[in-house]
Amino acid sequence: MDTNDMMVNTDNGGNVRVQSLFSCNILLVGFMGTGKSTISSYLVKALGVEEIDTDRLIEQREGRSIANIFETDGEAYFRRCETQLLVELQKRKNLIISCGGGMALQDENVRLMKETGKIVLLTARPETIYERVKDSRDRPLLNHNMNVEFIAGLLEKRRPKYLKAADIIIDTDGRDVSDICEELIEKVAGSTK
Ligand code: S3P
Repeated sequence: MDTNDMMVNTDNGGNVRVQSLFSCNILLVGFMGTGKSTISSYLVKALGVEEIDTDRLIEQREGRSIANIFETDGEAYFRRCETQLLVELQKRKNLIISCGGGMALQDENVRLMKETGKIVLLTARPETIYERVKDSRDRPLLNHNMNVEFIAGLLEKRRPKYLKAADIIIDTDGRDVSDICEELIEKVAGSTK
């Protein structure tokens, strides 16, 4: 079967036709806790493609956690690592790239991402985000601000940048992973026709 016109089975028994999906990368962006890693893992299994998690790759290369990078070298250093990674990924194809929550905030990053694939923005309400991240200790921006008010404020500040970057927007509130992925695949396939 031509990989440009294949059927993908989904957990809920349905299947969707994927056209030209493999000619580009899929870049998942969005605020912390919007489900990028979860959606990425599901897509990788459903589509049999390779995954890049930018946070994990930066941690691997640096041999230390993101919290440690922020603490020792500052946020600006981490942001340079993110941009450098996007430059390196320019020539790669057929990847699901799960991006750190700040990746889409810089114009240069968005330019690089647009050149290499489709940018899919995942969204969720601040209350949902809080529930998903409240027990995590490895997000330095939230470590001393773990509450709905702070999340809502930062999300509001970032929203215009996220919306400007997005080719496709998918709401994740109260939905199954399989349902979200089915919508995502349909929209990506539709946008690459
Ligand atoms: C950040 C999000 C984090 C990580 C870093 C900064 C952000 O990734 O890159 O802590 O600025 O939103 P996740 O969105 O995967 O938590």
